[in-house]
Amino acid sequence: MKEELSKLPGAIGVFDSGYGGLTILSKIRQALPEYDYIYLGDNARTPYGTRSFEIVYEFTLQAVNKLFEMGCHLVILACNTASAKALRSIQINDLPGIDPERRVLGVIRPTVECIGNITNSRHVGVLATSGTIKSESYPLEIHKLFPDIEVHGQACPMWVPLVENNEAHGLGADFFVQKDIDSLMYKDRKIDTIILGCTHYPLLANKIKRFVPDGVTVVSQGEYVAASLKDYLHRHPEMDGKCTKGGSCRFYTTESEDKFRESASIFLNERITAQRITIE
Ligand code: DGL
Repeated sequence: MKEELSKLPGAIGVFDSGYGGLTILSKIRQALPEYDYIYLGDNARTPYGTRSFEIVYEFTLQAVNKLFEMGCHLVILACNTASAKALRSIQINDLPGIDPERRVLGVIRPTVECIGNITNSRHVGVLATSGTIKSESYPLEIHKLFPDIEVHGQACPMWVPLVENNEAHGLGADFFVQKDIDSLMYKDRKIDTIILGCTHYPLLANKIKRFVPDGVTVVSQGEYVAASLKDYLHRHPEMDGKCTKGGSCRFYTTESEDKFRESASIFLNERITAQRITIE
């Protein structure tokens, strides 16, 4: 039976493999409360961070198509792994055939743009999923803008499962957070700025701050992505005109609605309802 897909034409789509994109969504909604939003979490297939390029691309394209089908003209990949592994191909190869008027934006570029003003030592660390680290997207993007900055990355494969399984505040999380931060700092003691290059990681922010050395700045992406989107809509009135402004937000998940509602409410600090959909 074909599922009943409610539409919200003109909503801005925000996509993540799971709950992490909620950290981006909440900053976007703070900066741009008047717009309508659809959040889609592919919780049934998370994590993406340990999956191959082909699979992340395939899943992300399916999600983008679903959000287009629901009426979005603009989709934000609120997921570094999807931004690193799928964004460029979707923009260049898929969008012209799907609808050249629609747009898909990622989270890496807006984060990287702010870095030049934050680091003094010009040594930057990136904590991210294995997929994002392997893609080299952060060093590549940073060096396009700031060739003088030295970048070291550390994959943190356990952090997303800790968040997805509601273990972000438990003792088990202490062990993995400290271990990965120590490994990063061991690679380069001059690092004075650490980018949280995964949208799930702000949910571990308190622990992360406990384990980074004094004087190191920890950069979460939400505010930079929100500011960049605001700027984008200002510079593209033709897209802004297509985005409806009713102040609503709907949540969709590929996993159980109850599971999503409970966990998302904790992460967002508000009660929400969600609808389950399939993407393929
Ligand atoms: N939250 C996503 C990111 O920013 C993906 C995490 C995952 O699914 O592994 O990378």
